[in-house]
Amino acid sequence: MIVIKAPAKVNLSLKILGKRPDGFHELETLMVPLELADEIQITRIESGVTLLCEGGSADVTSDAQNLVWRAAMAYQSASGDREGLHFLVKKQIPSGAGLGGGSSDAAAVLLALEEMAEHPLGMDVLQGLAADLGSDVPFFLYRCAAICKGRGELIQPVTFSWDGYLLLIKPPFSISTPWAFTRYAEMQQEKPLGSCNEEKDNGILFKNNDLEAPVFSKYLVLAVLKRWLLQQAGVENALLCGSGSTMFAAVRERKDAELLADAVKAEFGEAFWTCVTSISF
Ligand code: C5P
Repeated sequence: MIVIKAPAKVNLSLKILGKRPDGFHELETLMVPLELADEIQITRIESGVTLLCEGGSADVTSDAQNLVWRAAMAYQSASGDREGLHFLVKKQIPSGAGLGGGSSDAAAVLLALEEMAEHPLGMDVLQGLAADLGSDVPFFLYRCAAICKGRGELIQPVTFSWDGYLLLIKPPFSISTPWAFTRYAEMQQEKPLGSCNEEKDNGILFKNNDLEAPVFSKYLVLAVLKRWLLQQAGVENALLCGSGSTMFAAVRERKDAELLADAVKAEFGEAFWTCVTSISF
């Protein structure tokens, strides 16, 4: 049996540069992997590919829609290998959250199958398979901080250090990524967007996320949450993760992150999911 970790991500900045002819948006985003991770166990079986997801919400299905299954199929059709495999996915990363859980699971499967293969496909092929599975999947092949361009699939690893913790806060609803991009495009036509006034600029880290304005226009509680977080002692910044619905607050001390998690639940309700984690350098 092989056991692999599939880390979550946050975007420390996300800039939308324009709409592309293929319908996607041209991005420039700094993404970092987190300590928070799903776990995937892979067992060889007689034949076929089977999948079981534990611990996820109802929308994480154990069928052919799941990116784990699709990644396994993509790898096998590229390699010609037809080995029987069973995947047990232990979900820790919430879905519809902007944390890249499904994409990370898919990349972890590609990396594991590459490791197990007698004749590995090589990183170039793997990257192509990853990009076909989703815009965020190639980033997770690298397992380090990266600036991602194009529709997200062009990866430039970067090094930087930041010593602190992230409190992840997910409200009790999910947000559809296509909806967020569509709303962004609509708002661009209505009026040019400015970035949120309350941003604190800390150089390369924690710049704004261009998807906040469209997401906040519908999910007002997230705008309220951001403003509230920025007023709390010790919070260096608060930013939406990808297209949401998770928001992260950056703080220096673990204790402050834990106290902040309690305060979030007291202020916004127990239905808000929280998790103290850190960037995985
Ligand atoms: O690539 P992925 O399947 O994750 O993208 C989901 C949806 O998000 C796309 O169908 C598109 O509507 C939107 N998207 C976009 N521009 C990107 C990435 C995603 O418009 N760079």
